[in-house]
Amino acid sequence: MQLKDRFNIHDDVAEIIFDENQIQLKVKELASQISQDYKGMPLTLVPILKGATVFLGDLLKSITIPISVDFMMVSSYKNTETNGFVCVEMDLRETAENRNILIVEDIIDTGITINYVYERIKSQNPKSIKICSLLDKPSRRKKNINIDYLGFKIPDKFVVGYGVDFNEVYRNLPYISVLKPEIYEEIQ
Ligand code: IMP
Ligand code: MG
Repeated sequence: MQLKDRFNIHDDVAEIIFDENQIQLKVKELASQISQDYKGMPLTLVPILKGATVFLGDLLKSITIPISVDFMMVSSYKNTETNGFVCVEMDLRETAENRNILIVEDIIDTGITINYVYERIKSQNPKSIKICSLLDKPSRRKKNINIDYLGFKIPDKFVVGYGVDFNEVYRNLPYISVLKPEIYEEIQ
């Protein structure tokens, strides 16, 4: 059966790593810290599509200061392995010059994607630039990245849910999970 033909994606889950409650609590903590740190400063969130969408939605609802949002879409992944180069599919609508930018990412693995996005935005001379990521997989890091706002550190497992996909599917699982091995194997 094809991934997209499955009726109940919850049946494909082997293990829930962070459930909805744990995620909601953490996102609220991050939003409250961001609201305090950027008080009195105009802030632009730059979510990286598509993985950061669900995280962004919850984060937005809990941030209390005025903010704007400007999206970027980049791709750098094939199946479960990074292909090591980054392609900008959609760029910022406005230059980052003189703006306070907070990049919002779903997961930082090798760091290649976020490093590329960070350097690209930095070259536009923003007033400040920081990184917020829901997940961090430090064991596979190839670039030195400072994550200013982090949800959770995770071991080197391929996770899905809460916006994070496997071959474009499973983003709508409300928790962070690992799929049954046969699901990954079908695609290899
Ligand atoms: P990096 O460039 O290796 O840091 O990869 C970052 C991007 O790869 C993330 O934005 C995700 O889209 C994707 N990615 C990394 N790890 C996973 C995973 O465990 N599951 C799904 N996507 C992942
Ligand atoms: Mg991503």
